[in-house]
Amino acid sequence: MDRELNGAMRSVSINSAQQNGHNSAVGGGGRDETDRVGVAPGAAALSGAPAATTKLGATSTATSAGKTTAAAATTTNSTHSNSNSSPQQIALLSAAEKTKMVHELCQQLLLTDEQVQELCYRILHELRRGLAKDTHPKANVKCFVTYVQDLPNGNERGKFLALDLGGTNFRVLLIHLQENNDFQMESRIYAIPQHIMIGSGTQLFDHIAECLSNFMSEHNVYKERLPLGFTFSFPLRQLGLTKGLLETWTKGFNCAGVVNEDVVQLLKDAIARRGDVQIDVCAILNDTTGTLMSCAWKNHNCKIGLIVGTGANACYMERVEEAELFEAEDPRKKHVLINTEWGAFGDNGALDFVRTEFDRDIDVHSINPGKQTFEKMISGMYMGELVRLVLVKMTQAGILFNGQDSEVLNTRGLFFTKYVSEIEADEPGNFTNCRLVLEELGLTNASDSDCANVRYICECVSKRAAHLVSAGIATLINKMDEPTVTVGVDGSVYRFHPKFHNLMVEKISQLIKPGITFDLMLSEDGSGRGAALVAAVACREDILNSKK
Ligand code: BGC
Repeated sequence: MDRELNGAMRSVSINSAQQNGHNSAVGGGGRDETDRVGVAPGAAALSGAPAATTKLGATSTATSAGKTTAAAATTTNSTHSNSNSSPQQIALLSAAEKTKMVHELCQQLLLTDEQVQELCYRILHELRRGLAKDTHPKANVKCFVTYVQDLPNGNERGKFLALDLGGTNFRVLLIHLQENNDFQMESRIYAIPQHIMIGSGTQLFDHIAECLSNFMSEHNVYKERLPLGFTFSFPLRQLGLTKGLLETWTKGFNCAGVVNEDVVQLLKDAIARRGDVQIDVCAILNDTTGTLMSCAWKNHNCKIGLIVGTGANACYMERVEEAELFEAEDPRKKHVLINTEWGAFGDNGALDFVRTEFDRDIDVHSINPGKQTFEKMISGMYMGELVRLVLVKMTQAGILFNGQDSEVLNTRGLFFTKYVSEIEADEPGNFTNCRLVLEELGLTNASDSDCANVRYICECVSKRAAHLVSAGIATLINKMDEPTVTVGVDGSVYRFHPKFHNLMVEKISQLIKPGITFDLMLSEDGSGRGAALVAAVACREDILNSKK
């Protein structure tokens, strides 16, 4: 099936590349291969950059070094002499020629400065549509109000339970917030079996309640009624701090009967069905909110929370008057936290000008086709698979591994995202990790040049992800327009990829307004401790209100 599909993809892209022959040369601004003349035979034929890329790239006549030039595009276009070379013929080319082909084919994955700038405009436009009352119903980037208005002040104390659903694992945590920004935390990870991830909502919440009850008895808090923060990392239309309707599932979950339901109520019902434990749900929150809160506990400039993990999303502090859907109760509070749910950016076609055949392939084979377009270009759930698709295409074309593939390479989902980080963690010129990964994939005949090319492909995919995230963060920073902003960040891709942080710092610095300073702060377990903090702040407010 995969082989057939890839065969079909290849013939489709050969046709589109012949129509838009200069695509492969115009997509690569900001890189050090400005003069890519003399493309290796077959390279242009295999490049499948989308037509709209051509439009943007072709109209750009950048001048500085490393940017696209129309001349380079024309020259490349005129060298398709041998676009019908067979994989066998390509396999016989020299290592240098194959490397050139890899670089050409990867052009579609590199974003020019102009494209990144355009992305910023489009993200801002979509954020505004999400925030405004009249455009919100049809907006893709929903900009949900979180009802969080108060950041922690460092005085939060006490024992809290937290549930964390929606990352790589489901966790239950017991957190004790103490003096001097100190805290103790015990947690346990529970598996969510695949059949529950796509089963019924009742099964899911019964499973969560069972894990919670087991955890409480193991940690001797079975008899206590503790406040609980529920980190539920899916798009949630919040109606209050303890009420939220699921908009749609993401990240491989698809439990029946939960969309449009109040998730807090489903949790309470499941706990009541068991009847053995008592809890007090003080807050439901997104993992981006938890991340922001856990950083803000120490750093009061933290006004953005970002996750680049299994999924991708950001939240930020917005002025109350901009958040048209928020009915403010306390006129003294000038800001409210907005969960952008920007993973859905592009679901209306706004990203088509930079999407590639690999992105379309990922989407078509996903559990939620047509949804979470931005997320599918960025997050850990998809990054490894994107690399795998590029590798498969190049191997079948004879460019990599002398055209010899393997069953694992040809199987969906078996190139794990952690491989990308591992491969890029090798010192330049050293391929120790790369060879280990290739061995796991059953590819034992890789040359050094193959390894260098595999690494380059990983770099293109991860760099594109970092640049897409940076466009989003820079847009938020510019929109907030405050002199200094700290961005709290968490998620496996950001945490474990060796260059993601630096790539982001570099790109965001290029994109933000002069005079604004920012920094990226790694969150210490935002989903857990952040949940406790949101619950704690909510309790603090309740106590204050009851004293009024
Ligand atoms: C969800 C977000 C979440 C993000 C990161 C996305 O799929 O829609 O709510 O914040 O993943 O976990």
